Amino acid sequence: MLQTLLLPILLQNTALPRLLPGPMDGISEGSFISAMSSRGWVSAWWTPFLRISTGVPRMARLQNWLQPYLDSGLPVVAQIMGIHSERLAETAKRLFILGAAGVDLNCACPSPTVLANGGGGTCLLEPEWISQTLLLLREKCGHRLLSCKIRAGYQSPAEIPVLAAALRLGQPDLLTVHYRTVREMYQPIPDGLERLRRFRELLPDLALFGCGDIRTPQDALQMYSAARIDGLLVARGLLSNPRLLRDIALQCQGIPPVPVSEREKISFLRDLSQPSAGYSASSPNGFVLRLAGTLFGPDSQLFARLVQLRKLGPTWDYLGELLQQP
Ligand SMILES: Cc1cc2nc3c(=O)[nH]c(=O)nc-3n(C[C@H](O)[C@H](O)[C@H](O)COP(=O)(O)O)c2cc1C
Repeated sequence: MLQTLLLPILLQNTALPRLLPGPMDGISEGSFISAMSSRGWVSAWWTPFLRISTGVPRMARLQNWLQPYLDSGLPVVAQIMGIHSERLAETAKRLFILGAAGVDLNCACPSPTVLANGGGGTCLLEPEWISQTLLLLREKCGHRLLSCKIRAGYQSPAEIPVLAAALRLGQPDLLTVHYRTVREMYQPIPDGLERLRRFRELLPDLALFGCGDIRTPQDALQMYSAARIDGLLVARGLLSNPRLLRDIALQCQGIPPVPVSEREKISFLRDLSQPSAGYSASSPNGFVLRLAGTLFGPDSQLFARLVQLRKLGPTWDYLGELLQQP
């Protein structure tokens, strides 16, 4: 049964892997895309949200945004977020023309800025808006892979039945649930898997992907079997183990994963700090530092050294020197 997770799921004639990187604004971008793709540590991409506000972005802008993901040669689910259903639907249509494998409507983001603008997680307060927007996306995009990413309620998981009813009406091809509510932000909750199971019971015929706190292959397999989901997204777990999706795939085949070596981590960080990958060599290395902190720990010597270096150029050189050492 676990082997099913290794097979793509066919949605509207699009084969989508079932083990996916969760979208992470500010992280799954730029050099992270190429560093992960070139190592075979991901088999598809799910972009962070593109906010659609004042108008439908021009094709050239959409292409600029999507191209780094398309360059990976992997299927790409493009995520959009906003409150104007017509604009969202027109943007989705354009993204399909540009080569997206799927388009996902973000109804999940809990960021205070996003909520203040009425988008992301706020949409959960208007379930009928979700149904209508999904139906409009369908009208514009036809038989293309349409997805919706939500949290398990805005205030409380008691909202699950109403949300499930709205999704039944909206008929996306795929529903992804991060099992916390918007109000819960990222705090620990005891009943995440139970909430996913509830969605499964209420929407037995809809492809359902789960998401939340998957840090190890065991977490993934537990979510898969406890909630009978069809696939899963791993986000923060990739920051401490960027090979986690591969490890989950190995575990499904009964092969125990081997931890990422120190050398592989340094090589990964070096690829992230590559000055040519859309960053300027003189810009701060904050993004690389964040990953160094999660990979090596904030108390590690390597982290301390990268803090001293501050800029991407010197960081790239230093990590290159480390790789030269036997
Ligand atoms: C830094 C960061 C940025 C995120 N950006 C997005 C985003 O753009 N779109 C989205 O749907 N979810 C976003 N998420 C949520 C994740 O995709 C995921 O649903 C959530 O973190 C729970 O999964 P995890 O416990 O595996 O991290 C973000 C999460 C983090 C930590």
